[in-house]
Amino acid sequence: MQHIFVHESPLTFHLQNDALSYIIAILPGGLPAQLYCGRRIHDRADFSYLRGKAMPFSVALTMANDSIPEESMRLEYPCYGSSDYRQCAVSLLQENGSRLAVFAYDSYKILPGKPRLQSLPATYAEAPEEAATLVLRLRDRIAGALCELYYTVFSEGGALARSVRFVNEGAQTLSLERAMSLCLDLPDHDYEWISLNGAWARERTPAAARLTPGLQGVESLRGNSSHQNNPFLALRRPHATEHSGEVLGFSLVYSGNFLAQVQVDQNGFSRVLMGINPAWFSWEIKPGDSFQTPEAVMVYSDQGLNGMSRSFHRLYRTRLVRGPWRDAPRPILINNWEATEFDISEEVILKIAEKAKACGIEMFVLDDGWFGARRSDRAGLGDWVPAPEVLPDGIRGLSEKVTALGMKFGLWIEPEMVNPDSDLYRAHPDWILRIPDRRATLFRNQCVLDFSRPEVVDHIHGMLAKLLRESKISYIKWDMNRSITECFSAALPPHRQGEVFHRYILGVYALYERLISEFPDILFESCASGGGRFDPGMLYYAPQTWTSDDTDAYERLRIQYGTSLVYPISAMGSHVSAVPNLQTGRRVSLRMRADVAFFGTFGYELDLNTLTDEEQAAVARDTAFMKAHRQLIQFGDFYRLASPFEGNDAAWMVVGEDRAEAVVGWYHALHAVNTPARTLKLTGLNPDAVYTVSIPSGNGTAREIGAFYGDELMNVGVISRPDRPEVDDFLHPAGDFSSEIFLLKETRAE
Ligand code: DGJ
Repeated sequence: MQHIFVHESPLTFHLQNDALSYIIAILPGGLPAQLYCGRRIHDRADFSYLRGKAMPFSVALTMANDSIPEESMRLEYPCYGSSDYRQCAVSLLQENGSRLAVFAYDSYKILPGKPRLQSLPATYAEAPEEAATLVLRLRDRIAGALCELYYTVFSEGGALARSVRFVNEGAQTLSLERAMSLCLDLPDHDYEWISLNGAWARERTPAAARLTPGLQGVESLRGNSSHQNNPFLALRRPHATEHSGEVLGFSLVYSGNFLAQVQVDQNGFSRVLMGINPAWFSWEIKPGDSFQTPEAVMVYSDQGLNGMSRSFHRLYRTRLVRGPWRDAPRPILINNWEATEFDISEEVILKIAEKAKACGIEMFVLDDGWFGARRSDRAGLGDWVPAPEVLPDGIRGLSEKVTALGMKFGLWIEPEMVNPDSDLYRAHPDWILRIPDRRATLFRNQCVLDFSRPEVVDHIHGMLAKLLRESKISYIKWDMNRSITECFSAALPPHRQGEVFHRYILGVYALYERLISEFPDILFESCASGGGRFDPGMLYYAPQTWTSDDTDAYERLRIQYGTSLVYPISAMGSHVSAVPNLQTGRRVSLRMRADVAFFGTFGYELDLNTLTDEEQAAVARDTAFMKAHRQLIQFGDFYRLASPFEGNDAAWMVVGEDRAEAVVGWYHALHAVNTPARTLKLTGLNPDAVYTVSIPSGNGTAREIGAFYGDELMNVGVISRPDRPEVDDFLHPAGDFSSEIFLLKETRAE
């Protein structure tokens, strides 16, 4: 249960839920200060002892000057320009050229539940008792600005959501140049900071380093949240592990340029800042207008990184994702991209779909190349009209034929982009982001449409809505295959070009919102050259994201492992693809390819007609297995057990909410010869329950290997690889890239 305790003198707010306490006090000058953020503690009438002692700039100054430097304080929403020299939360340009805003306490209100954020994705509460929101109203009367700090404390999972709203209450025009969503000053820096980094086809690799004095952080300036750095940061106590110890996780619900940063200052304090990247950002606020920042979510865990991840998973799965697909097991689909790339025809497509149907697959997804002059990536983007030479009966005809097979039909689009060789570009050459008199950089032969302009979004909406109305479409894969360059809008005056990056992403959100409200039953999957926009902002609109263009199962193990730090299994698009793998040339067994893809939305990315009969039978069995277990896998509690970044083996498991069932995946990169028995210790089970452990066998049934107490499975580790009769290190070595799935079912609770 969440609480917001208010103590009037000194004015103090204690936000508390099942795991966390977060305490703010208003200092004598009106600045809100951070007193405590950590494991839940009892409330008390006076927390003044937590204020700490003021640190002077120098002895001489302390003697001569009675003001306490702000840099010795832990502040909730600091501004540079007075005596806080650290990285700050806000910078507000006023007409006289000053950027200082002293946002001092004015009033507060407490709201049941959680208010929606205007035009931005955010977590939500369905019932008022799920959460409570504190709004701290701060004012700078000289600038004429109101700044509202929103803190929503969710009853469960140690989660706290923060955002900030500015209102221009004065007569002058203001310009925000920095407006972070979250600032948190912690009293020490005894942490490792963890981030998720990578590149195309190797997204979200975890990195960890000790906090050191000065700045450390990650960011994007690409216009999308990016393959390179994810809008996420965690602080872990040095001895914390996957399963125990304190972790603070920070995640930004935003898909554009971001900054996530920690600064360790002269006092050893750590300042965490998260929000829209202030570089190349500004936002004009006219008198009477307002600006809303994106939301940042913080979770506190005293159960290690897995505890942090479970809190993010649950919150994002149940209170960020929306619509009928939120709680529904995801359809098992087949996508033609890796099988055909642009070489498609209705005949080819239907052949793939028919075979997929025979194997029990539920949906066919037609990828790139079906529209306009799009016979390669050189032309056609922007012309969302089916190409008659590819699809004589259009998308409508094809979708009806696929539906007649007894499958759902899904379609690929890339609405934010245009090829210069397209009817759209020829009609509206000024609709792209481009700096006047400079060349527009082409990536993959395409330009970025200026989604900061409502008329551009309207036009694309018109084409897509027509298509969706006319055809039987159950799923959309919304791709985005390049980052932004030459960010400049022909529709804005010179002094407002700093708004374009943010306005662009607001345009993307607006189009999503329109489409999902008009077509609520369509399942959207977001994609950006694989996982270049795998962020919480996207999940508000699209319940799942294509995790990576790298479909090699061994690579996917790593990518999905890293992704699981923040994002739920139900959000991770994961497909079995052909061997040799398109990205790596590696040959991973069909068994392991499926065993990795099970821990995601599950589907196929190949032409099943090219498989042997035996392999097709395996596909049918794996599809049946996933249908039987996807509810548990996609909606249970996920735990990482062994990291593919640290050794030859990797393992993870999902446990049902009532702890009566579990599925374990254990993976081995290289085959090790003549090794001692390796055991796997599980977690998250009921220690007093007895579980039967079985291995799904090739014929679709499961072979029982024994019954064990939960405490044995968790502490002794009875799952042991060489104990299994069908894997004999000498007679039948498993070979490289092998894996096992174990099913656990509670039989008797004591
Ligand atoms: C990039 C995506 O990540 C792929 O899955 C595929 O849809 C291609 N784009 C199509 O152009």
